[in-house]
Amino acid sequence: MLDALSIKSHKGTYEARFTAQLLLDPDFLLEGEPHFIVDKKIAELYAVQLQNILASPNVILIEATETNKSLESAAQLISVLVEQKTRRNHHLVAIGGGITQDLVCFIASTLLRGIDWKFVPTTLLAQADSCIGSKSSINVGEAKNIVGTFYPPSEVFIDPNFLTTLDQSEIRSGIGEILKVHAIDSAESFDKVALELDSITQDLNKLQPFIYSALSIKKRFIEIDEFDQGIRNIFNFGHSFGHAIESATNFGVPHGVAVTMGMDVACQVAAMREILPKSHSDRMRTALRRNYLPFSHVEIPLEESMKALLKDKKNSSTELGLILPVGPSASIEKVMIPPDSEFIEQFRTALTALA
Ligand SMILES: NC(=O)c1ccc[n+]([C@@H]2O[C@H](COP(=O)([O-])OP(=O)(O)OC[C@H]3O[C@@H](n4cnc5c(N)ncnc54)[C@H](O)[C@@H]3O)[C@@H](O)[C@H]2O)c1
Repeated sequence: MLDALSIKSHKGTYEARFTAQLLLDPDFLLEGEPHFIVDKKIAELYAVQLQNILASPNVILIEATETNKSLESAAQLISVLVEQKTRRNHHLVAIGGGITQDLVCFIASTLLRGIDWKFVPTTLLAQADSCIGSKSSINVGEAKNIVGTFYPPSEVFIDPNFLTTLDQSEIRSGIGEILKVHAIDSAESFDKVALELDSITQDLNKLQPFIYSALSIKKRFIEIDEFDQGIRNIFNFGHSFGHAIESATNFGVPHGVAVTMGMDVACQVAAMREILPKSHSDRMRTALRRNYLPFSHVEIPLEESMKALLKDKKNSSTELGLILPVGPSASIEKVMIPPDSEFIEQFRTALTALA
């Protein structure tokens, strides 16, 4: 089994532990005073393995949908936790993917001015990326991830056996984030994932080293800039365009797949503006396209995408703040670009080329 990763944060050091045993013996999670918030689908799929947890008095099941990742849902969950008499020495346990994580992290950071929480990530995206880094993000109306906090879990338990029940689109979603993190590390790192793309999509055992390297790369950045004031910003590579695509297609594309498309758009825009050599753009696009291909038929309306892009958190009042690959080594950097007719035409061309 892989070594645990220790991550330094403003709340102290916490560990992401790798285990293939959690589903065989999950009852250690009942220790202390836990309140479980579990993705309903996980409760159904793993009803036998998690039976003692699911039979414990303090369990809430949630539907993992973007609509439920809202302030209204958080308030409802808090009401149930209050009825369960949650106290400051109790802790929450999230079992699910990024949606369950975002809700539980947000609640843990605000309920009683902060209580501990533990995380069992069950999607590839959550295991390879979101489970470390402290962030919670909640949607308000149409504005995705607009409210949030920085509040790391006290422990993370990563069991690859959960990945066996994910469908292919969720695997591709996680691989999108793995490609992103490796692109941030270097062109060579990205190419290593690209080379293994087919085998890691089909063989979950081959994924393990890439989950580990993705978390190790992310650890380096979040320990320097946990609160996303500077260098960590580049982890939004693919996200401004990706969120715009998610929003314009009414979440018709899973998050990490939209991020993969977003990275493709970023490569194209950077090449069209001549800040990235075309050879790099072509190299990266070939791998990215292989990952999002099953979704390339989804229609992405330009006007709605542009509207969503203009609302991005990284924008200044007059310019778009885009994370793009730049220069001879395709390093990932923040670039400010005015949303003028030249950019809109480039964006249109790039979206069209995704089909
Ligand atoms: N906080 C962060 O740092 C961070 C980072 C990246 C993404 N996110 C957020 O994460 C969300 C996306 O998360 P996600 O892709 O992990 O998944 P998710 O929580 O949206 O789950 C995706 C689907 O997979 C199902 N599922 C979960 N585990 C399963 C399993 N083991 N087997 C079968 N089905 C399973 C869920 O029920 C759901 O239908 C987005 O809202 C995004 O904004 C947060």
